[in-house]
Amino acid sequence: MEEILIYDRGMVISRAVAGSLEEIAARLAEMASGSTSLHVVCDRNVTHVAERLFAEVGDGVPDAPGMFVLDASEKNKTMGTVLDICGWLMESGADRNSMLFAIGGGIVTDMAGFAASIYMRGIRFAYLPTTLLAQVDASVGGKTGVNYNSYKNMLGVIRQPECTFICADVLDSLPERDFLSGASEMIKSFLIEDGGNYRRAVDFMSSLRSAGDRKAFLVSHRDELSALIHAAVGVKAGIVSRDQFESGERRKLNLGHTFAHAIEKNARSAGLDITHGEAVSVGMVMAARLAEKTGYAEAGYAGSLKSELDSVGLMTECPFSVQELVDAMRKDKKTEGGIIHFVLVAGPGMVKIEDMAADRAAELLK
Ligand SMILES: NC(=O)c1ccc[n+]([C@@H]2O[C@H](COP(=O)([O-])OP(=O)(O)OC[C@H]3O[C@@H](n4cnc5c(N)ncnc54)[C@H](O)[C@@H]3O)[C@@H](O)[C@H]2O)c1
Repeated sequence: MEEILIYDRGMVISRAVAGSLEEIAARLAEMASGSTSLHVVCDRNVTHVAERLFAEVGDGVPDAPGMFVLDASEKNKTMGTVLDICGWLMESGADRNSMLFAIGGGIVTDMAGFAASIYMRGIRFAYLPTTLLAQVDASVGGKTGVNYNSYKNMLGVIRQPECTFICADVLDSLPERDFLSGASEMIKSFLIEDGGNYRRAVDFMSSLRSAGDRKAFLVSHRDELSALIHAAVGVKAGIVSRDQFESGERRKLNLGHTFAHAIEKNARSAGLDITHGEAVSVGMVMAARLAEKTGYAEAGYAGSLKSELDSVGLMTECPFSVQELVDAMRKDKKTEGGIIHFVLVAGPGMVKIEDMAADRAAELLK
């Protein structure tokens, strides 16, 4: 099984392990054998994955008291749901040596990771992400949390999963829109660091878009997709290893996100359904536009980035005014003393952080 290690000052703090469901089942059984019990939190839409996995694990797992099944939605991504998970852990007898295993997209891994981090001051946990977005982004790097009122991921902690298992096969049932949402985060990672893979990812996603039979395309291009996922996880793992707590380089992973969070906040208020990846895609085009205005990117770059993201089928037009976005940015948890750490992009591998007041950004973008 291929492994990517995540470090903190030379020590391995987490790992991402890629393989088939059979291989993952064996590895999970081995890991969980050191725990008193294994507690599974699973997204309602992927209980079939849990069934396949546990059919493979068979008797290899210690006492596994059922499964906590939850509906993944931003509305449910709350402290209340995390407390429900903690309550269930308690009822099912989890002790300090128990292990939690989360199966699902970013909403489930963010909440399960948070619950595992606070239950009895922290128990072992691992993930099997089932969306592309969770595989390349949410389940790697240790950020966990929930929304509070209309603020996204306002409450949470950074705590690393012991292991994130990556398996491209589980993506077969993922709806197209959710797949694209993950494509956006994958492309973001390659824009930050990896020029060659950026082109490969854009070409792959464009071909997938024009393929008559998406499922057949994904099955026949499994190795190519697995390689792209592996490379994207590698980009994130490398950055997190150098800056786990986001005091410098990790901020680059927020490329497109300053705008995206503002778009998502406005969308919630307006009752519009915009996925995280869609908002990030629009955000990346806006980051390129801002880069042009500051002179970092060549004139026309934002237009060419937009065409590439359009070819993939991603959202690239912002449904809100610059003023509406800037008003939301002022309240973002990453805004410090009115200053925003904007991530500017001028091309694949050409990304820099520029601190700017919200009003200055608004002036440049209007
Ligand atoms: N912790 C982090 O570093 C980090 C990074 C990025 C995003 N996030 C968070 O991740 C969340 C978004 O995650 P997401 O895009 O995975 O969304 P999600 O968890 O909402 O999953 C999207 C949808 O797909 C369904 N689903 C999941 N796997 C499936 C599969 N294999 N087949 C069929 N349906 C499936 C889910 O039930 C859900 O309806 C956001 O809340 C965001 O804040 C966290």
